Amino acid sequence: MPQLLNVTQNLKSKSSMKDYSTKIAYITGGSSGIGLSLAREFVRRRASVVLVARDKDRLEHARNELESLASHGYPNLSVVSLDISNIDQVREMLPKTVELSGVPDILVNSAGIAYPNYFERIPYERFIDMVNINLIGTWNSIAVLEPFMRNRGGNIVNISSIAGFIGTFGYTAYSASKFGVIGLSEALRGELKRYGICVSVLCPPDTDTPQLVEENKTKPAETKALSGKSKPMSSEAVAKACIRGLEKGKFMIIPGSSGKMIYMARRLFPSLVNWMMDREVQRAQRDLKKNSIY
Ligand SMILES: NC(=O)c1ccc[n+]([C@@H]2O[C@H](COP(=O)([O-])OP(=O)(O)OC[C@H]3O[C@@H](n4cnc5c(N)ncnc54)[C@H](OP(=O)(O)O)[C@@H]3O)[C@@H](O)[C@H]2O)c1
Repeated sequence: MPQLLNVTQNLKSKSSMKDYSTKIAYITGGSSGIGLSLAREFVRRRASVVLVARDKDRLEHARNELESLASHGYPNLSVVSLDISNIDQVREMLPKTVELSGVPDILVNSAGIAYPNYFERIPYERFIDMVNINLIGTWNSIAVLEPFMRNRGGNIVNISSIAGFIGTFGYTAYSASKFGVIGLSEALRGELKRYGICVSVLCPPDTDTPQLVEENKTKPAETKALSGKSKPMSSEAVAKACIRGLEKGKFMIIPGSSGKMIYMARRLFPSLVNWMMDREVQRAQRDLKKNSIY
């Protein structure tokens, strides 16, 4: 009987997904890039939104922008300044936010950082920061907010990356953290089902955001060669794909066709994918030698 109850709860949370006017979305990393684009989409659908990030000015700026979209009087917009990797701050501030702004129906974990470079050029502290923010930060917000969401039904979306299912040249530290996000999400998906919470993981390709601008400053030439000439996706397109995936109750949400192809190829033909990547890397290294950069 309890099983049947949970199935009904899951169906309920899926079927009511398109009515956002009574929903509250918490978005870590909501002041910029993909998180902010998701906030815009939720506000356009009349959901209330709570943005979580560190920098207060950027949060206020994002809130002002969202207010201008919410001309119909809806929705409620709140901002919380905290470091998601700091469990003490998360434990202190998020329950207070729940008291003031309500229990999340949707929790998006978008807070993240990336520093690509050759393995030996990634400072140890940068590696620790990436794991702390991208992986442990995701754990932290879920650990504090999930108990409030329990048995009410809801969605948790963790943002990983294509580099979260395919180890990518130049992304040792980032890939390590983002593989962790997929592992966490996969295990959690089965566990939280019994509480009516649907867990998804979003794996965007290169997306046009401030983070990508920063990444391009330190990306090795081989990494650039692997990306080829493909244009980054817009954060708006990624946000829309995320919402479509949520509404279909998908676990793995991969925006864009090339990411989906890489995912399938990686699962079906792992050796072939490694061979193709190695070939691209060697070609880039030959070019570097020719231009005597090595
Ligand atoms: N852009 C891409 O190409 C791409 C591709 C695949 C996956 N992703 C992933 O998508 C997510 C969003 O990336 P984005 O490109 O939109 O990045 P972004 O524009 O740089 O935004 C990152 C957001 O995370 C917040 N943040 C960073 N560290 C934080 C911390 N310790 N505590 C709380 N908030 C923190 C930032 O605000 P503060 O700095 O003020 O805290 C900002 O709001 C990340 O997880 C990223 O790894 C991005």
